[in-house]
Amino acid sequence: MSLSARERLIVALDVPSVTDAQALVTRLGESVCFYKIGYQLAFAGGLRLAGDLIAAGNQVFLDLKLHDIGNTVQKGVESVARMGATFLTVHAYPQTMKAAVEGRQGSSLRILGVTVLTSYDDADLAAAGYDLGIGELAAARATQAHDIGLDGLVCSAEEAPNLRSIVGPGMALVTPGIRPAGSAAGDQKRVMTPARAIQAGADYLVVGRPVVAAADLRSAADAIVAEIEQAANA
Ligand code: C5P
Repeated sequence: MSLSARERLIVALDVPSVTDAQALVTRLGESVCFYKIGYQLAFAGGLRLAGDLIAAGNQVFLDLKLHDIGNTVQKGVESVARMGATFLTVHAYPQTMKAAVEGRQGSSLRILGVTVLTSYDDADLAAAGYDLGIGELAAARATQAHDIGLDGLVCSAEEAPNLRSIVGPGMALVTPGIRPAGSAAGDQKRVMTPARAIQAGADYLVVGRPVVAAADLRSAADAIVAEIEQAANA
């Protein structure tokens, strides 16, 4: 995969309104070219904003974690593909993943699987009726994602080396929980610096607060891009 360091940085637009998001995008200028839109902004006009960002030459990751009957997932994914988004997340259930891969045929949309939500522990899985632990379930779902033809996985940078050994070089690993040295972890429990995440095998880094809550957004983004570049060329 030959990506520029800048397109490996995905900035999370975790804000409540399109006005707030547009202000961030304006302040970031050309220092960022890839944005993630999740539930909060998507359901507050963010899908229209996604279209505008794409029209302006940016890439967009829609973090909508779809999961429904196959026909519904496929039709939804077809609509997302027509928007011109680059990444879309789905929960890594086999039927859902197959339908999503079907729905993105013929487009440049790439489907990312969420193996097990990072807020879950073994007790949460047991409460949801699973008798597998987190590690086992995540590995099983990664194997299924690979076999079904998914384009990538969202994972923590700590999981990246193990998942890479399961899915091989062809799938993108997209990692949140990134914290440049010295920045606040906030509610993230397991964090890694941009350089270490790249060394662990991450293809894309999702970064929210360390960029959007910085005093100088462009400098914060540029510093992360420089760190990615250096680690990628080391
Ligand atoms: O502000 P921060 O850098 O922690 O933001 C990380 C982004 O990645 C948020 O949008 C968060 O929802 C998302 N994310 C995450 N952990 C996951 C999946 C997504 O932090 N396992």
